[in-house]
Amino acid sequence: MRSLYLFLIVWCQLTMSLACGQYSQPWQPGWSDIEREDLRCYTSTCDTLGKPLDTCCPCHSCMSWEGSGKNIDIEYISVVGKSVAVFAGEFNQSEVYRIQHSYSDLKEIPSNVCDWDKESNTNFFSDIYQIMREFWEYVVELDFTGNKIRRIPDINCLKRLDKLDLSYNNIIHVSNSSFYNLSRLRNINLERNQIKHLDINVFSAPQLNMFHVDVSNNIMETLDVSNMLSLKPFCSIEYTNNKITNLVSENFVLDMNKPPSSGFVSMNGNQIKQFPNFKELLNLTSWEQMGQILDFGFDFKDIPLVCDCNIQPFLEKAESVIETLWRDYMNVKCTSPPEYAGIPVVQMKHDQLICNVSLEDGCPTPDCSCVDKPSENTLYINCANGNLKEMPNISNSAHSKYISLNVSGNNIQTIKNKTYLPLLASFDISHNDLREINNDVIDILQDSCTMLNISDNPKMTELPRKIQYRKTCSTHMNNLLVHCGCDTLWIETWLKQNVCSTDYVFQCNIPGVGVKLAADFHESDLQCKEESIVIVASMIASGIILMIIIGFTVHSFKYELLILYLRSRRRKRNTVMSNFAYDVFISYNENEDHVREWVAKFLNPHLMKSGYTTFIALRDINFGAERDSEVISAIQNSQRFLIVLSESYLCGAYEGMRSWTENEWKYGWYNFRSCPYKKIVLVNFDHIKPSDVDHPVIKAYLRVGYTVDFKNQDRTIMDDIEKKLGGPAVLPDIDARVIENKKTKFSCDELFMARPFQLSPDLDVVDFENDLKYNDINDDYVNFTYT
Ligand SMILES: *[C@@H]1O[C@H](CO)[C@@H](O)[C@H](O)[C@H]1NC(C)=O
Ligand SMILES: *[C@@H]1O[C@H](CO)[C@@H](O)[C@H](O)[C@H]1NC(C)=O
Ligand SMILES: *[C@@H]1O[C@H](CO)[C@@H](O)[C@H](O)[C@H]1NC(C)=O
Ligand SMILES: *[C@@H]1O[C@H](CO)[C@@H](O)[C@H](O)[C@H]1NC(C)=O
Ligand SMILES: *[C@@H]1O[C@H](CO)[C@@H](O)[C@H](O)[C@H]1NC(C)=O
Ligand SMILES: *[C@@H]1O[C@H](CO)[C@@H](O)[C@H](O)[C@H]1NC(C)=O
Ligand SMILES: *[C@@H]1O[C@H](CO)[C@@H](O)[C@H](O)[C@H]1NC(C)=O
Ligand SMILES: *[C@@H]1O[C@H](CO)[C@@H](O)[C@H](O)[C@H]1NC(C)=O
Ligand SMILES: *[C@@H]1O[C@H](CO)[C@@H](O)[C@H](O)[C@H]1NC(C)=O
Repeated sequence: MRSLYLFLIVWCQLTMSLACGQYSQPWQPGWSDIEREDLRCYTSTCDTLGKPLDTCCPCHSCMSWEGSGKNIDIEYISVVGKSVAVFAGEFNQSEVYRIQHSYSDLKEIPSNVCDWDKESNTNFFSDIYQIMREFWEYVVELDFTGNKIRRIPDINCLKRLDKLDLSYNNIIHVSNSSFYNLSRLRNINLERNQIKHLDINVFSAPQLNMFHVDVSNNIMETLDVSNMLSLKPFCSIEYTNNKITNLVSENFVLDMNKPPSSGFVSMNGNQIKQFPNFKELLNLTSWEQMGQILDFGFDFKDIPLVCDCNIQPFLEKAESVIETLWRDYMNVKCTSPPEYAGIPVVQMKHDQLICNVSLEDGCPTPDCSCVDKPSENTLYINCANGNLKEMPNISNSAHSKYISLNVSGNNIQTIKNKTYLPLLASFDISHNDLREINNDVIDILQDSCTMLNISDNPKMTELPRKIQYRKTCSTHMNNLLVHCGCDTLWIETWLKQNVCSTDYVFQCNIPGVGVKLAADFHESDLQCKEESIVIVASMIASGIILMIIIGFTVHSFKYELLILYLRSRRRKRNTVMSNFAYDVFISYNENEDHVREWVAKFLNPHLMKSGYTTFIALRDINFGAERDSEVISAIQNSQRFLIVLSESYLCGAYEGMRSWTENEWKYGWYNFRSCPYKKIVLVNFDHIKPSDVDHPVIKAYLRVGYTVDFKNQDRTIMDDIEKKLGGPAVLPDIDARVIENKKTKFSCDELFMARPFQLSPDLDVVDFENDLKYNDINDDYVNFTYT
């Protein structure tokens, strides 16, 4: 029986070999950098197919030596199924060899193939090992079909290996190091083993050039994308009839400079339910890219395909490339959902391809139902009547960008700033417990949300102002009772500009008018204008009152202000420029004995001792001279005017006559006002309070002026007075005076003398103030107006 079988195989090989020699042409693959002198291709077939050789020949190749290989035999060396390969004849370099042992009890590949089994290399077998090494590079075929082999050792020494047939064995796992360097290996057959797992990159190692790989009828459950691809063109990779439920991508990085080559991958008869998301698996930026870089065919026949949202983007965006990509695509039928079972995928409408999102996949609560519709780019979430107390948490969909959220009929009080708010395309929050919507939320919803339903929220009595930028037709607000007042007149404008069915619009609660349909709300319902007039009027009125208060203050304190102002423009006395005859004019009431005594005995001597030149009317006016003119000229020629203020200083007038002191004060004051170098110092001899004084200027002076309070402590009083007066004038030397005179633009003396100032003895306070007014107008420095 076996011999008959062997005969058949030999016969087949013979005919193939003949065919290869007869009809094929030598073919050097364009991508290969190794010399393939023995590789041939049925070029005429490829010509008929009209395909380029590099694409076509992987499926239509043969080897020049096919059928002429010499058999190397197998000898068992142990009962556990170990063996060695032995060749009966001489080694001949011109021959090729194959190790073949089919349908037997081999548990391992022969031990001396690449010396993988070091243990068996004993003295007894060392010759056999030794001899076999010569053959390694001339072995083109390993055929152990139908044995009990469990694993593939490292066979990279078989450099010319063309075919590895391990079908019908017990292999469990295939390592990516077993044959990664075998660049001439064309066929790998691992059909009908117990393969559960493949390493990554088993068939896509850079050296490999396989054309046919068969891993069909195994028990694989997952498949890494790296084993569906090869960097070199190939004919087919078969994963038919495994138990693959999903494709995975462990560490796969697509090199865009070296994209995978063309080939045909058969996945039929697996358990793949969800259409693989190649975009994600291959880390592509778009589905279109898949068509650009991949020249692949996938066969997904007989898989229990669920026609849901996962298939939609592939159908929609890759329709142009789908037929080249997906072999026999026209015959693939949906197996579920039940309503679409048996319908060819190609007949599915895009809006039928939806996903029911489960709780695990991020659907908020059991009360919500979530449906993803990639054809609308929207994830529909319906939580209506779900007992929600706050906005649900939503995780993003992989298929859709936008969200349509229905939380109608819950107990939500506020709309929190959730990350998904900007993604809401439709938002139904009617029949809730909303208290308000804030402007920020309206702002966020502005761009994308084309349907907002806030109807039936009885506790919401105000609308955010930014809602006026929404179209009323995209905002449902029925059964709301909203406060409409002068502060919300924008409501009228908004509703006028956006005429929409009254179904959408709320009711207005107008103060003093009652409830009206918002569309009928009008400014004239309210007295807003009048109110604004009242506001303007009251503003004007309060402005006037304020000005009156300011005016009154200025008026009552005009002298204080004047004194402060004058003092602020006082110039530092320049000792050199001083050309006043006296440092200090002392003014006091000579009729008061204790004052006169104090001046004569203490003040004057003290000042003189300190170097001041003083003028005292009683002492310095020549007997018989006219007192007023003397005093005027003395005050003019005094830099400082010192008043010893006693109770009787200003009230010494008898029978309507002005007292001397009052006149002196007046001159002093005028001088002070006119000449920025002058100074008034007031010694409050009798502790007079400002309120006790009638004279407005002196009163003001007491309030703000240069006063020295008299406290009967002579020493400090004198020091105080001196401090206030400033030091005595240093008598200028001649040269300095000349220079100074040149520099001086005006002297206060001249200014003062130039004024035709007539002093009449009966000048009263009113006249005095009139004078003040006159001077103020002409004085550059003073701009007060006195009334
Ligand atoms: C080796 O094989 C070639 C061709 O098969 C044959 O011509 C040659 O005689 C052989 N050499 C030896 C030493 O057998
Ligand atoms: C793999 O093959 C290349 C050339 O084909 C050789 O240079 C390299 O040494 C081989 N590597 C191993 C580990 O055999
Ligand atoms: C071979 O497979 C192992 C395990 O899957 C992996 O860690 C390793 O990176 C792979 N080697 C290559 C060269 O891909
Ligand atoms: C996927 O591609 C992006 C660029 O397109 C790249 O930044 C990222 O690292 C890639 N991820 C993986 C796992 O290769
Ligand atoms: C989604 O759920 C509905 C109702 O439960 C069901 O009829 C439909 O088949 C489901 N669709 C998918 C794709 O699971
Ligand atoms: C949403 O998530 C936050 C934090 O993850 C949690 O505190 C909150 O209770 C969740 N809200 C709902 C309605 O589940
Ligand atoms: C939200 O759900 C309620 C109750 O089922 C329904 O009346 C309403 O039309 C839904 N809103 C939208 C926008 O579908
Ligand atoms: C809302 O949240 C987003 C991000 O979570 C943030 O960028 C935005 O400033 C927030 N808006 C407001 C008004 O708080
Ligand atoms: C908005 O909410 C009201 C009240 O629940 C409902 O009658 C109406 O159908 C909703 N409109 C839309 C478009 O969902």
